[in-house]
Amino acid sequence: MRNLRNPFVQVGIWTLGVGAVLSVIVLSVPWLPEDASTQAGTIDTLYDVLAVISCFVFALVISILLVSVVHFRRRHNDLSDGEPIHGNTTLEAVWTAIPALLMLGAAVYSALVLANIEEPKANTQTVDVTGQQFAWTFKYEQGNFRTGVLFLVKGTPYHFKMHSKDVIHSFWVPEFRMKKDAVPGMTTDTRVTPTRYGHFTLVCTELCGLGHSTMRAPVIVGNQAAFDRWAALQKKKQSQVGGIS
Ligand code: CUA
Repeated sequence: MRNLRNPFVQVGIWTLGVGAVLSVIVLSVPWLPEDASTQAGTIDTLYDVLAVISCFVFALVISILLVSVVHFRRRHNDLSDGEPIHGNTTLEAVWTAIPALLMLGAAVYSALVLANIEEPKANTQTVDVTGQQFAWTFKYEQGNFRTGVLFLVKGTPYHFKMHSKDVIHSFWVPEFRMKKDAVPGMTTDTRVTPTRYGHFTLVCTELCGLGHSTMRAPVIVGNQAAFDRWAALQKKKQSQVGGIS
């Protein structure tokens, strides 16, 4: 049991214990809204992994601090000077290398996730998304009509091509997780495959002027038959007002 008095062993035990408890707490909190796209699961796992790593790094820092305070505290009546220390090359190399490896690992993992969620899929439908102060419009390439409602078919991979008519806006449906800016003068894009029926909201998430907080659009995820009926109705409405350019 003499080992337990060793400050390194104490730091190790506290780090594992506190890190594990924090991880359980952090993982049990529902930080994110429900997931409604194939992209969401991969992103959520990345979030969880980074959160757990953060818990253990935090636990390590706090453990070193507390063990140092308790183990190396000045004893009563000890008025001697501290040891003259001029750096420790090994220690500095270790505390530089470990965070560097952690960051590198997180960067490689994130890059793999990004490549995975942005991978083009077969049978992808393209929708042109245009942002302007303070509304979104959607032009369906298949069917050639334009609406203010984003109707998607569950299980279909979508490719959104984004434009802006004035300032920078940002396309975000929290349940889909994917977020991309619409920038004037260029076309940006993002990919989403919806996995859940329901009504969601597209939120502009780039401060774009006085009406920014009202710049929302309804998002509906339904089945193919519902989409076909809806699309026919949109086309009929459009032909009644003279069609689109
Ligand atoms: Cu558009 Cu904020």
